[in-house]
Amino acid sequence: MNFQEQYAVSPARQLTEIEQGLVWKKPASHKVSEEELRICNEIKRNWNRGEMKIANILLEGDAGSGKTQLAKALSANLGLPYTKVTCFADMDKSDIIGAILPVISSVQLEKLEPSEQAVLQALMPRQGSH
Ligand SMILES: Nc1ncnc2c1ncn2[C@@H]1O[C@H](COP(=O)(O)OP(=O)(O)O)[C@@H](O)[C@H]1O
Ligand SMILES: [Mg+2]
Repeated sequence: MNFQEQYAVSPARQLTEIEQGLVWKKPASHKVSEEELRICNEIKRNWNRGEMKIANILLEGDAGSGKTQLAKALSANLGLPYTKVTCFADMDKSDIIGAILPVISSVQLEKLEPSEQAVLQALMPRQGSH
């Protein structure tokens, strides 16, 4: 059975080289579990069903029970990049999904108070001078 053919969720999506490199490849030692197949089927079945789309899965189990490898197997089966995020105490959602920062033209920036200029310059991505 070809898992990628069966479970690839967005075959039309063109992955970048970096993303492609993050799609896990199952080692020969990988054992497919009933849970892996059930989760893949449910994700695939609901992928284009709006609010029913499964975006998060909570895996509960003892250390060494195979949670991490199951997450990686989903990457391989669904054809999606695998990455991990380590949580910390004052973590914010912007640490994962990014944040919207102000962008202002250099002409507008020059009209601002020096203190405001300093704040915006610290926030804004570096741009070429023109
Ligand atoms: N489906 C599987 N087939 C083969 N080996 C597995 C499988 N799941 C886990 N393992 C192996 O078991 C060990 C623990 O798995 P891991 O996913 O790290 O557990 P957890 O994240 O739950 O602590 C790892 O060495 C992993 O390679
Ligand atoms: Mg783990």
